[in-house]
Amino acid sequence: MTTSYRPEPAAGTILTGKWKGRSYRVLGKLGEGANGTVFLVSCEGRRHALKVGLDAADVQSEVNALTAITAGGGPLAGFLVDTDDFIWKGTSYSFYVMKYVEGLQSAVFLDKEGSEWLSVIGLKLLVQLTHLHERGWVFGDLKTENVLVSSYGEAHLVDFGGLSPIGRSVKQFTEIYDRGYWNAGTRTADAGYDLFAFGILCLRLLGAGEECFRRDLLPQNRSPELLLKAAEASASCRPYLPCLRRLLGGGYSSSREACEHWRATVYSWNKRPVRKSSALGKGFKTGIAVSAILFLSVVYLYIRDLM
Ligand SMILES: Nc1ncnc2c1ncn2[C@@H]1O[C@H](COP(=O)(O)OP(=O)(O)O)[C@@H](O)[C@H]1O
Ligand SMILES: [Mg+2]
Repeated sequence: MTTSYRPEPAAGTILTGKWKGRSYRVLGKLGEGANGTVFLVSCEGRRHALKVGLDAADVQSEVNALTAITAGGGPLAGFLVDTDDFIWKGTSYSFYVMKYVEGLQSAVFLDKEGSEWLSVIGLKLLVQLTHLHERGWVFGDLKTENVLVSSYGEAHLVDFGGLSPIGRSVKQFTEIYDRGYWNAGTRTADAGYDLFAFGILCLRLLGAGEECFRRDLLPQNRSPELLLKAAEASASCRPYLPCLRRLLGGGYSSSREACEHWRATVYSWNKRPVRKSSALGKGFKTGIAVSAILFLSVVYLYIRDLM
């Protein structure tokens, strides 16, 4: 069933599943996108995120995809908590409950903490994409809103509505991240599809190429070359150019390769010779900041995994 309006249960509302009977207390709204609204809820003393879809079939297909990728464990094991329908003001809505990711949307995080964090966030995302691709799935709808970042730059993918089996058509995408929109390839799900969207995500997070993302850009003018020119003209993209060229130009044979290249590129910044004559240059300071961020993140993730 497709509903034209979004349910907006106020904080304190109890939503009870029609079929399984579990009750969730609404604590607040976490966000919304084109397909649904996500609420912070509590159930038996634990906090979760509950996504209400506008279309029951879309919710079901998202749940099916999540069930398939979490089968047999892996980093997303336990992400999907429950799925059911509830009645609100006389209308039935399908929903699913998932792990609550305490973090900020990636663009908000970078605005607040500084664009140096892209080095860490990008690596973490490429690791997750590698995991999905090596299990036969493409994320599909990669964009800044679907990446949440918690402390120490830990990046999480949310919104699995675009998850598509490799070789099929991509199920859900957003125009400006879409390889087809940029005349840069097909909409068939392959690793390169996500890697292209990851390249656009980097441009967006680094504030580059604003003029390319205008709605009135004519279809014949859309090309990966235009995006690359924008990246080359942007000072914030410069350190990432070796990766951006291959991300946007379809130059990687796998996400694992992209991940290794990203890692090597980020580490190479700290190995550049330092000019003795002048005070510390901006590049050197960025290198120090990135090293500190990388070091702290690695220590944090290591300690967290031990606990
Ligand atoms: N598990 C989660 N934990 C915390 N916030 C979330 C979670 N899932 C989604 N959100 C927030 O809700 C927003 C909308 O959810 P999303 O699944 O992307 O909806 P849509 O499919 O409509 O785009 C996200 O951009 C994010 O800010
Ligand atoms: Mg979304």
